[in-house]
Amino acid sequence: MESINWSDLSFSYMKTDYNVRCYYRDGKWGELEVSSSEYVPIHMAATCLHYGQEAFEGLKAFRGVDGKVRIFRLDENAKRMQSSANCVLMAPVPEELFKQAVLKVVKLNERFIPPYGTGASLYIRPLLVGTGARVGVNPADEYMFLIFVTPVGPYFKAGFKPTNVAIMRGFDRAAPLGTGHVKVGGNYAASLRSGALAHENNYSAVLYLDAKEKKYLDECGPANFFLIKGNKYVTPASGSILPSITNKSIMQIAESLGLEVERRRIAVEELANFDEAGECGTAAVISPVGRIDDFDNPGVSYVFSHDGQPGKVCEKLYKTLRGIQYGEIEDKFGWNTILD
Ligand code: PLP
Ligand code: COI
Repeated sequence: MESINWSDLSFSYMKTDYNVRCYYRDGKWGELEVSSSEYVPIHMAATCLHYGQEAFEGLKAFRGVDGKVRIFRLDENAKRMQSSANCVLMAPVPEELFKQAVLKVVKLNERFIPPYGTGASLYIRPLLVGTGARVGVNPADEYMFLIFVTPVGPYFKAGFKPTNVAIMRGFDRAAPLGTGHVKVGGNYAASLRSGALAHENNYSAVLYLDAKEKKYLDECGPANFFLIKGNKYVTPASGSILPSITNKSIMQIAESLGLEVERRRIAVEELANFDEAGECGTAAVISPVGRIDDFDNPGVSYVFSHDGQPGKVCEKLYKTLRGIQYGEIEDKFGWNTILD
């Protein structure tokens, strides 16, 4: 086995041994297949290539303190992929097939699950694409469901350290009645240009505003956004953001720790009233935000960390979430699926 420096992993692709695939043809899903190829043969007129008829998911498996492998909130990701599929008229993957496929691909690549204590995990990437040929803009009649896995470290190079983000008023990620609430590739294509500009200016991400009024906070390119004020956890309510499973989990953790949780529209100017800010998601986990700059209004900034350290509440939430995922803290919510 090639030697992997587990503690030094970044969030990038590494080849693993196997992926699993399943095909939808003639109105039904076939058998789950195992492949060791990194490539997919695909019709040149497939709808995923031309019209973005595709959706993906992201979840993680963790090697726990007790040596057991835990997969976090598998059922929630299965449901969200169905909601994405329905939104862009794809054949939804049955929940049981999704679960069976995740368990199988993790088991087959068990040697790539990072050891406990390295802070790394196995990222699981389910993908559903329209493979049927179309030239007119119509849904396909054939689909491929595929899952690959890859061991990953932190999404933001800093790890659990504050990074800066930028509000960029010249860009939108998702339209109010568009596809922002589901995990389809087009949302990410729409975020590439603003994301690149943000990175060129040393920001870890863009914090998007609502596309209609440019008044309220939506979310970041790859993660949801939250704020802390005293004992209160506040996160944007919006029809054009992805319903983050991490955020949903953090809200439950926050409540269990005695915090008050609010999901509501948050006007940009309100940023000045908060003590802490953070991004959250499967890849981002909880990433504290140090400062938010209003990129098009030089001099307008909101500072959350003065000493380069995460805030106390962010840290408590992070430790509790990680603790549950790594089996250090009792999973009283029943979020983990343990691999046999
Ligand atoms: N928002 C966007 C745009 C994302 O891509 C992600 C990542 O999946 C999230 C939020 C976080 O969602 P989750 O916590 O379910 O991973
Ligand atoms: C995730 O957190 O799983 C994501 O999909 C975010 C990003 C890598 C697109």
